[in-house]
Amino acid sequence: MTLGLATAGESHGPALVAILSGLPAGLTLDRAAIDADLGRRQQGYGRSPRQQLETDRVEVLAGLRHGVTLGTPLALVVRNLDHKNWDWGMSPWPSEGEPAGKGTKPVTLPRPGHADLAGVLKYGHEDVRNALERASARHTAVHVAAGAVAKALLAELGIAVAGRATEVGGATGDEGMREATDAARSDRDTLGGIVEVVATGVPPGLGSYAEKADRLDARIAAALMGIQAVKAVEIGDGLALARERGSQAHDEIDPGLVRRSNRAGGIEAGVSNGEAIVARAAMKPLPTLMRPLDSVDLATGEPAQALVERSDVQAVEALAVVAESAVAWELARAAREKFGGDALVDMIAAHRFYLARIGETWRR
Ligand SMILES: Cc1cc2nc3c(=O)[nH]c(=O)nc-3n(C[C@H](O)[C@H](O)[C@H](O)COP(=O)(O)O)c2cc1C
Repeated sequence: MTLGLATAGESHGPALVAILSGLPAGLTLDRAAIDADLGRRQQGYGRSPRQQLETDRVEVLAGLRHGVTLGTPLALVVRNLDHKNWDWGMSPWPSEGEPAGKGTKPVTLPRPGHADLAGVLKYGHEDVRNALERASARHTAVHVAAGAVAKALLAELGIAVAGRATEVGGATGDEGMREATDAARSDRDTLGGIVEVVATGVPPGLGSYAEKADRLDARIAAALMGIQAVKAVEIGDGLALARERGSQAHDEIDPGLVRRSNRAGGIEAGVSNGEAIVARAAMKPLPTLMRPLDSVDLATGEPAQALVERSDVQAVEALAVVAESAVAWELARAAREKFGGDALVDMIAAHRFYLARIGETWRR
């Protein structure tokens, strides 16, 4: 048994939904903690005004009773409060009355770097909006809600996951990142950056070297690369290791199974080794520019400027929250596979039994 996650929802449709399967029964969820993570995703310097328009809140439709999971699929909803402005344009059923509000005119100006051109070609859409609405990172909101549930499960096993932005547009430090953002905003340009996720308390033995799809490093890399705008992932010292000698690249083992370093980022042979798991993701500059890039009008085939739509200057801090959620989900999934448990008490007991078997030397 493992955890399953299915999501649906368009950026300006009525709502985003997620169904989480495989959660053990007996896990207490804190609504305020889930909403706090949704709030963190909406914050950060450089976000668009949309984030002030909407305050995301989680609703639960199934799988929870009096705040405790039932062991049945958990159905989460995050409503798009902005949908009221797109009522006609994003109506799931044929719209009634005169066109009103946003999204009434087809978009035919694909943005380089977004889903627009590939999406219309792949699905045969005439309106680019039919592609961009789902490709947009808006639906990371329900992934963050799912990640908050995963973090609640991991906390029962003493595992904590935290993400932070470390670089924006090549600049580091809060001040530097803000300055870089302000400069890009005044040039009507956009930026990318780097985030780092660290998971502590992870026992050795999550993941597997037996099949490539089961490797924890591969799973974490896929989870991070699956986030919009992420173009590179690093585990531990990743790229730098390629330039080192073997004598400088590995984490020597002292008596008591203590490591002298953590260059591997907590994973060896696709299996957690008890050290902190460290993963980084690199985000490209956002593709919607207020000073649009050259493109082609799909209606005429003539040169044109790409679509300009309300957009972030950079969303690196938001990515840190989304990346934290993605890593948490993947670790919770790996823990569920290792420790099983239809009931949370069974899972905790299996975890304790395992720690007793291997000794607690890895935990510092
Ligand atoms: C949290 C977050 C917020 C984003 N906000 C924007 C945005 O405001 N404008 C934009 O053009 N792209 C934004 N993106 C990036 C696009 O969604 C992404 O570049 C696009 O879907 C194409 O996918 P790709 O970059 O992975 O190729 C955001 C991504 C994330 C993770």
